[in-house]
Amino acid sequence: MSYMLEIKDIHKTFNAGTINEKIALNGVNLNLNDGDFVTIIGGNGAGKSTTLNAVAGVWDVDEGKIIIDGVDVTRLPEHKRARYLGRVFQDPMNGTAATMSIDENMAIAARRGHHRTLRWGITREERERYCKMLATLDLGLESRMDTKVGLLSGGQRQAITLLMAAIQKPKLLLLDEHTAALDPRTAKKVLDISERIIAENHLTAMMVTHNMKDAIAHGNRLVMMHEGRVIYDVAGEEKMKLHVSDLMAKFEEASGGEFANDRMMFV
Ligand SMILES: Nc1ncnc2c1ncn2[C@@H]1O[C@H](COP(=O)(O)OP(=O)(O)OP(=O)(O)O)[C@@H](O)[C@H]1O
Ligand SMILES: [Mg+2]
Repeated sequence: MSYMLEIKDIHKTFNAGTINEKIALNGVNLNLNDGDFVTIIGGNGAGKSTTLNAVAGVWDVDEGKIIIDGVDVTRLPEHKRARYLGRVFQDPMNGTAATMSIDENMAIAARRGHHRTLRWGITREERERYCKMLATLDLGLESRMDTKVGLLSGGQRQAITLLMAAIQKPKLLLLDEHTAALDPRTAKKVLDISERIIAENHLTAMMVTHNMKDAIAHGNRLVMMHEGRVIYDVAGEEKMKLHVSDLMAKFEEASGGEFANDRMMFV
């Protein structure tokens, strides 16, 4: 049985040899099966974002290997890994081009890796496809495809970014606290949309969240990181039975009770 993602003992130190030296990843190991949806929790600086950046190839890791669907991508630059990946970040401004319309943004995502420009315009078939996809969001955006994305709310932009990230059915979808900047109601809506998009496209996904309840409620697997390592990895039935108090206990055990002023949410 082969994995969709293999992270093998990766290490990453920033600013090595300076007073700002920081060991961000200290031997991360993680294997994801095809279709796994893993939520990732951990305190500030635990290495969650750095792990996602390592998978995306933002920089080279110092040690270890990253294998996506059997292909060793460890030394591939970021742009060459992009075709395997969809990414959504915390900042809603990040994933879409504000001065372009909704349909233009979607067309760029759909054409990524094919012809790169919108030189030939957007065909009626393309618009129909985007219209159907937007309708599934249930945000009324399908009737506003000419609207510039900069005029939309953060939640609407994140929902569109999710569609764009999934449009080419990537092997991996990387979500880094993509609902953290949204109000609770909108965050819930975008989380539900994420779950649906992942299920419908049979994507393998990693979702970083600081909300423990969300980490338990979504996905089939949960990983806790601490000081650049995976310290807890639970799946299936066992994950479904978890309570926030279990995660708190785990985290307290790992950090010696230093969670009080952490950004993690226990509610
Ligand atoms: N590009 C970088 N340059 C220098 N240090 C970095 C860089 N990226 C991350 N770090 C450091 O590596 C450590 C891990 O950071 P990371 O962003 O992975 O944490 P995180 O688990 O995502 O935390 P948070 O919950 O705060 O987002 C931190 O100490 C961080 O300051
Ligand atoms: Mg982070």
